[in-house]
Amino acid sequence: MNFNAETRVNEIALSDPGARRILEDAGVDYCCGGGKSLHDACMRANVPAEVILEQLRKNSRKAETGESRWKQAPLAELTGHIRERHHGYVRDVIPRLRGMLAKVREKHGTKHREIEEIERLFGEVARDMQMHMQKEEQILFPFIDALERAASGQGAFEPPFFQTVRNPIYSMMKEHDAAGELVRQIRAASNTYHAPEDACATFQAAYQELEQFEKDLHLHVHLENNILFPRAVELEAAAA
Ligand SMILES: [Fe+2]
Ligand SMILES: [Fe+2]
Repeated sequence: MNFNAETRVNEIALSDPGARRILEDAGVDYCCGGGKSLHDACMRANVPAEVILEQLRKNSRKAETGESRWKQAPLAELTGHIRERHHGYVRDVIPRLRGMLAKVREKHGTKHREIEEIERLFGEVARDMQMHMQKEEQILFPFIDALERAASGQGAFEPPFFQTVRNPIYSMMKEHDAAGELVRQIRAASNTYHAPEDACATFQAAYQELEQFEKDLHLHVHLENNILFPRAVELEAAAA
């Protein structure tokens, strides 16, 4: 999306979660004052619009580089990207969503029993994902990075304790399936993220965040299952 100072902030916020985060971090209101131009909203928040515009452009360039580059880019760049964009996002959103769901349950839990179930499911996927990402960051990704360095002649190849990269990949893929299943259950319990008629703003926002969480998980898992892992397996076979 092309942004300029006249673009409405709600359009920017809808364009992608990275853009929304930029507005949020800068304290630019995109909800209640969503119809305002970026210029006006920035004036109100007392931040220079040019600075925000530059951040938004950078963010959309990043988003547009798309997945095709990950089929070629060095694997260390891809693991870095997954850490930064996806693991970073998951760690960031968990406390926020937990807080929102607790608030919604307190207010609407008696009338909308599904909230309690969604909160439980989200708690489960949040805990699983935190452990999962830690394993990737401490074991699998460093191994893949080392494999790549060795393949390009920078550093010796140390045989891993898990014998072949296929072993941790296999467990990570099983964990992806489990997380995907929990998210599917959240989708079903939330009526495909459609908040009820009487839902307050927090209720609606929680469903929007949950939907975003699902989208992000899908992309995250796709990058690992379909690009990173097969490339790592190939690299290992070539090194052997
Ligand atoms: Fe991951
Ligand atoms: Fe993963």
